[in-house]
Amino acid sequence: MLKCAIIGLGKIAQTSHVPAYLSRRVKKKISVVGGVDISEENSKDFKKLIPGAEIFSNTDDLFKNLDIDFVDICVPPSLHAKYLNAALKYNVGIICEKPFTKELKEAALLKRKLLEKKPVFIPCHQYKYSPVWKNFKSFSDKTTGGNFLQFNIFRNTADLGYDKNNPGWRTDKKLSGGGILSDTGTHYLYLSSWILDKPIQVSVFNDTLKHNKYSVEDTSVVILKCEKGIAEINLTWAADRRANNAFISDGKRSMSYDGKKICFYDKDKAKEIHVPDASDKRTYLAFYEDLFLDFANAMKAKKFDRSLIEESYESVKLLDLCYKSAEKKKTLIVS
Ligand SMILES: NC(=O)c1ccc[n+]([C@@H]2O[C@H](COP(=O)([O-])OP(=O)(O)OC[C@H]3O[C@@H](n4cnc5c(N)ncnc54)[C@H](O)[C@@H]3O)[C@@H](O)[C@H]2O)c1
Repeated sequence: MLKCAIIGLGKIAQTSHVPAYLSRRVKKKISVVGGVDISEENSKDFKKLIPGAEIFSNTDDLFKNLDIDFVDICVPPSLHAKYLNAALKYNVGIICEKPFTKELKEAALLKRKLLEKKPVFIPCHQYKYSPVWKNFKSFSDKTTGGNFLQFNIFRNTADLGYDKNNPGWRTDKKLSGGGILSDTGTHYLYLSSWILDKPIQVSVFNDTLKHNKYSVEDTSVVILKCEKGIAEINLTWAADRRANNAFISDGKRSMSYDGKKICFYDKDKAKEIHVPDASDKRTYLAFYEDLFLDFANAMKAKKFDRSLIEESYESVKLLDLCYKSAEKKKTLIVS
């Protein structure tokens, strides 16, 4: 049984990571024995979910008192680098929430250290486990190029965190690194690179349409040219409601997702592809369960996977280039 400690016992830890760890499939392999947080309130709430876990206010006390196989980092992005370094110091495996780090410099440094120390590592790029995006990926895999991919992500506000002292960290650039582009856009940047292969150039327009008090953009339009086509990623916290949809076409066939189902079109023939209901919480939790199981298997096999470190670093590098493109109002080449 692998022993895990979660660092940052807020919303994502309590509402997604813990239920996934406690699921029938994962609890056979992983036991959450510890936690780290500076908020007493969140630590107490976490103890209600996992009464046996011991909670500490810092990682030195955690590692002095408990024998841990890996940590799961769920603090806001500005703190990811601090806890990635702590995990490297104590030679444990690492699961890390997205975005990998808040800044590109931190990402480059951490990439070097991770490649040197070779821990078992996985970023929470859990959308790659979604049946919807797996269908989009296999659509593109059957093509040699020329794909047009579009994602539309509508929200009416930025989510609040559980940290009572600072629930609005997502809209504070110092803590988040950026607005909707960094918070939600990270998922669609790694998905676009996964579905359409290597990114080549990027052009981004960021703006504030509704939330003038945010110190970050509430709306972002990304155009990303990749080896197998063009992705357009439209993200906003300024819509009237929450909705998602997506579309891909290679010029002969297409696939569209309306937030509930996928329709596949081949010439005049249309076929519905069943995917689990995205509004059902169990659907979302299953992505985390699959990711945790892959991680547990890698820990058991002591399997170091360089590609996941590269993917984490590349997602921050692309995010950084997106912000530079928006600032300079220019199309930029991905080096
Ligand atoms: N993969 C996804 O789909 C997804 C979804 C939501 C959030 N996230 C990510 O998860 C992370 C946390 O987001 P959240 O919504 O749970 O935030 P949150 O504010 O609800 O939780 C953060 C927790 O970190 C704690 N914390 C703050 N400073 C700390 C410190 N110095 N040391 C230890 N703990 C500290 C807070 O007290 C709080 O309990 C972010 O990186 C976010 O981007 C990912």
